[in-house]
Amino acid sequence: MKHFTSLKHLSRKEIINLLEIVSKVKKNPSAYKNKLKDKYIGLVFQKPSLRTKTSFYVGALQLGANVIYYAPGEVKIGERERICDIAKTMSGYLDGIVVRTFSHKVIDEFAQYGSIAVINALSNLLHPSQVLGDLFTLIELKKDIKKIKFTYVGDGNNVCHSLLYAFSILGGNICIAYPKGYSPKSEVLAECKNFAKKSGGSICLTNKPTIAAADADVLYTDVWSSMGREKEQEQRKKVFKDFQINDTLLKLAKSDCLVMHCLPAHRGQEITDSVIDSKKSVVFLQAENRLHSAKAILLSLLED
Ligand code: CP
Ligand code: NVA
Repeated sequence: MKHFTSLKHLSRKEIINLLEIVSKVKKNPSAYKNKLKDKYIGLVFQKPSLRTKTSFYVGALQLGANVIYYAPGEVKIGERERICDIAKTMSGYLDGIVVRTFSHKVIDEFAQYGSIAVINALSNLLHPSQVLGDLFTLIELKKDIKKIKFTYVGDGNNVCHSLLYAFSILGGNICIAYPKGYSPKSEVLAECKNFAKKSGGSICLTNKPTIAAADADVLYTDVWSSMGREKEQEQRKKVFKDFQINDTLLKLAKSDCLVMHCLPAHRGQEITDSVIDSKKSVVFLQAENRLHSAKAILLSLLED
C-alpha cells in the first residue's frame, strides 16, 4: 500500500490487515510510540474538520512523528500554484501528506506527481479513513459484518460511497435509502456491484427508508448537505425530510440495532436528539476509533 486514497484500491485481505493493525494499536498504544520517529507529516486541509484533523494529528504525535498543519486558505491548491508543483515541493520535505479537499482529482494528482504517501482525509467523492474506523467499530460490536443488514439512510455522498466500497469488497450486505435525484454516483455503484459479485456481498437501493430500515442491524446516516453544498441546504431540508433516523424508523429495525453517524450531526435534521442520545447510538465510539484507525493508516504507509 503506497497511498490511502480510496478503499477501492485495496483488496479484502488488505482491508482486513489494516483492521488487525487498528485492533493492535488500540489494545497496546505504548508499543507503537516511536514507530514513526523522525517522520514528517503534512496535514493540508481545505475544509473544516474536528475528528479527522485531531485523529491524524494526535495519532501521528503518539507514533513519534512531527506534524505540520496547513489550515484552509493557506496552501491555496491550484490557485497560488499548480498541484503538480505543490506535490513535488512537499515531497522534498515530508514523508506523507493527509489531504482534505473538494474535488477528488486533487487527491489523485498529489499521488500522481508527488513521491510521498498520500492519505485522503475526505474529498467530495470519498471518505475512506472514516469508513475504516466505522468498519472497526462494527467488528468490535457486531463481530461478522457478513452476517448483518447494514442500512444507510440519506444522501449518496462521500461517506456513502466509501461504505459501498467497503461492504462490496468485504462481502457484506448494504442497503441504501436515498431520495430520488440523490443516488450514489453511478460509476461508484457499477464498480461496487462488480466487487459484490466477486465477494458474495449484496447492494440494495431504494427510495423508501422504511424498506431499508426493516430488520436492519445497523442504521447509519450523515448530513443532508455536505461541506461545499451549504447553498443547497434549504432545498435539501425539504427533499430529505422523510430520510431522518427517528424513533419511528428505529422501531422498524432489529431490537439490538446500532445507530451510527460519522458526525458532525445536524440534530433535528438527519437524526433526532432522542436517537443520537439513545443507548443504541455508538457515534462517540466511532469518533474515538478514528484515532486508532488513523494510526493504523499512518503505520501501514510510513513505518520503515
Ligand atoms: N467525521 C469527520 O470526518 O469529522 P470531521 O469533519 O470533524 O473531521
Ligand atoms: N458528508 C459529510 C461528511 C463530513 C465528515 C461532508 O462531506 O461534509
